[in-house]
Amino acid sequence: MTFRRVSISTRIFSRRSSVLTWINRRPVLVAKVGDGVYAMDAVCAHMGCALLTEVSGPQVTCPAHEAVWDIRTGALVSEPKVKPEMPCEEEALHAPLRTYPAREHDGFVEVDI
Ligand code: FES
Repeated sequence: MTFRRVSISTRIFSRRSSVLTWINRRPVLVAKVGDGVYAMDAVCAHMGCALLTEVSGPQVTCPAHEAVWDIRTGALVSEPKVKPEMPCEEEALHAPLRTYPAREHDGFVEVDI
């Protein structure tokens, strides 16, 4: 594993549970859940919406159609909600979302990506 420091002070977790950052030109959602720090691709696998959202425990709810993802594993917890007359393209869901090992070190977040 090769952790690299990202420009996120761990102090941010005293004000909010998660933050969106870019690592290697990828949007990555970083969140503190309990004593752990987790990182996951921040693009929803349903229709590509950015996961610009607060994290509740380990659950990340997509703001577009409310699919719920587990930031610890990238697993789909709850399927997207779409209008009944509009088919959900479930076969296009490429779950799980990619996750990356993350940790706190010297007051900063580090992610192995
Ligand atoms: S784009 Fe995320 S649930 Fe539809």
